[in-house]
Amino acid sequence: MTTPSPNGNVVRLAALGDLHCGRGCQGAFQRLFAQVSESADVLVLAGDLTDHGQPEEAQLLAQELRASLRVPVVGVLGNHDYEAGHVEEVQTILTEGGVRLLDGDAVELHGIGIAGVKGFAGGFGARALQSWGERVLKAFVREAVEEALKLESALARLRTAQRIVLLHYAPVRDTVDTEPAEILPFLGSSRLEEPINRYAATAVLHGHAHHGRPEGRTASGIPVYNVSLPVLRATLPDRPIRLLELPVPSEATAPVAAGG
Ligand SMILES: [Fe+2]
Ligand SMILES: [Fe+2]
Repeated sequence: MTTPSPNGNVVRLAALGDLHCGRGCQGAFQRLFAQVSESADVLVLAGDLTDHGQPEEAQLLAQELRASLRVPVVGVLGNHDYEAGHVEEVQTILTEGGVRLLDGDAVELHGIGIAGVKGFAGGFGARALQSWGERVLKAFVREAVEEALKLESALARLRTAQRIVLLHYAPVRDTVDTEPAEILPFLGSSRLEEPINRYAATAVLHGHAHHGRPEGRTASGIPVYNVSLPVLRATLPDRPIRLLELPVPSEATAPVAAGG
């Protein structure tokens, strides 16, 4: 079920990733979330919402969101949210705090579709890690394949003209290749790019690469934005938010009829 757009035929989507909310984060995001509330209709969060995946960190972030954010929020988790081994508790706290967490599923808001999954590593292009050799290496590749399949099934569910892909890991090398060459294979996976191109997504938002490049494209020309907060702070210091203005069809913006 979709909700009508509050601003005519354009939906303003704000994106941020890698908040890394830790023990001292009380008050740290209130200005940022207030800026989002002033400038956007929807916020998407691209993972690493907590610093170590501790439930107390998730509680702090939920408090920050409740205190300052006035628009719906959709998110995916990142690798840091798994670190402490309490991912179910972190998910529950953030969900109760109002975050619609996606993990291979999709949501429609104001007439735009958002398909989300954390993603995984493995590298890019012809040099991507292949499933060959030791069992543990095959398990590593299988994780990346399964995340790509989850993204594909999420995209397949969307019937909206605008289809946004929300990830933590990068689907292309373009937005991470300013990072040290030694870590590139751990920053994302080309396997995520395949369903993005096949389903002709509108745009992709990801985090994880704190020293990456802000913009890139998939092989079929779909824009990819690295919305990791350190990247946004470096490129947009006054308002470190990636804003996308998305046209939506008028039927998605029609007023909701009163029930009877
Ligand atoms: Fe991060
Ligand atoms: Fe990360």
